[in-house]
Amino acid sequence: MPIEFLESRLETYGAVSWMRGFAMPFVLALGPEAAQEVFANNDHVFSQKGQEFFSGRFFNRGLMFLDFEEHHFHRRIMQEAFTRERLSGYLHSMDTVAGAAAATLRDGELEVFPYLKRTLLDIATVVFMGDEPGPQSDLTNKAFTDCLRAASAVVRFPVPGLRWSAGVRGRRALEKYFHTNIDVRRTSGGEDLFASLCRVRDEEGNQFTDDDVVDHMIFLMSAATDTSAVAATAVVNQLALHPEWQDRIRAESSAAVNGDERLDLDALDRMRSLGLVINESMRLLAPVPVLFRKTLVDTVIQGCFVPADTMVVVAPWLNHHLPGLWTDPRSFDPDRFSDARREDRSHRLAFMPFGAGAHKCIGMHFATNVVKVVIHHLLRDHRIELRSGYTLEWDLTAMPTPTDGFPVLVRRVDDSDRNNTTVAT
Ligand code: HEM
Repeated sequence: MPIEFLESRLETYGAVSWMRGFAMPFVLALGPEAAQEVFANNDHVFSQKGQEFFSGRFFNRGLMFLDFEEHHFHRRIMQEAFTRERLSGYLHSMDTVAGAAAATLRDGELEVFPYLKRTLLDIATVVFMGDEPGPQSDLTNKAFTDCLRAASAVVRFPVPGLRWSAGVRGRRALEKYFHTNIDVRRTSGGEDLFASLCRVRDEEGNQFTDDDVVDHMIFLMSAATDTSAVAATAVVNQLALHPEWQDRIRAESSAAVNGDERLDLDALDRMRSLGLVINESMRLLAPVPVLFRKTLVDTVIQGCFVPADTMVVVAPWLNHHLPGLWTDPRSFDPDRFSDARREDRSHRLAFMPFGAGAHKCIGMHFATNVVKVVIHHLLRDHRIELRSGYTLEWDLTAMPTPTDGFPVLVRRVDDSDRNNTTVAT
């Protein structure tokens, strides 16, 4: 849904309105107060079955599709795979793969979106599954991409040759791959996410079953790669439009690593300008613009009656553009996230690219790290320029995707480029 459409719905019909789409009637719950009611979910009214409608068939029993006590139980265990210590363990592989991808860049045209998707899939192969990129990882990547494509298929039953059938085959192949490897991962360990999920326990000692690990792994791959690719693409777009921020980030990144070739979490924390730009890019283009819930019983949102079994759509992206919450919301102004301004604190749901409430993205810090690492390597030795007159158009029918591959020009930076820039304070 384009941002202009969401804005005009809010202005014309207020916070809660009915419309038709996805072959069904649904309710739009717009603005931070309506979102707050849905995400607080005090009486267990709003179910994740709304999300499941779109991609649940291929990402069956992923964390995002579980409700209430069951969700809480699984989330507590999974949380252990996302502690700072574990994130630090994943970082080395991210760094190696992103560095190798950037080393292949040559002066000339680069299709940014395919480059970022490929890099992030390769990172997922190593960081999630502990595999090196190669024939096996190509097979799992294909199976996984087929599942993702099937989730947004128009024809939603198996017809040979169409997306849905490929998705069903892909899901089976992934199940087989993870089931075959699970015993080894439970015993031999490793620093990858698959090994983590096999071994993590919550405070009471509860652990995932084999089926849980398989279901969670398949969903995590889906939750992680496309969203991160969209976020990183949005960042590259803003950096191409605002080259002064490229210089600022390049200088700051090289000071952050301080001659040390290997990245660690402290170095990422020091890349503050890059953090500001990532936030501002996700504010201007939320990688997940809308979220879905389903009412389990009759309820009221912002004083409006909503019956049981209704699909409810909340739009985090709209909150990112509300003039009451942000100054000049359409403009690119990363410093609005600086400690001195913190416009994102104007309302607790003013900025919510990772959602809110019980289902808030568990991979939020992982995502910020991986986007930082990929952009750091991309900018370290290269400048990105837009072709004259080019404007990036987003296809917003499902998750935002550039309508073309987002071609840019890359040029190797030389020492004079580096010396002309000082670290911003
Ligand atoms: C920039 C990248 C990302 C964005 C914008 C993003 C966004 C989101 C959003 C909006 C939700 C909430 C869904 C809802 O309320 O129904 C979510 C949930 C989730 N995300 Fe992310 N995500 C990103 C990256 C990741 C990564 C890298 C991982 C894993 C490594 C991940 C794993 C998950 C999981 C497991 C959930 C479900 C959490 C739950 O239901 O408790 N995400 N994400």
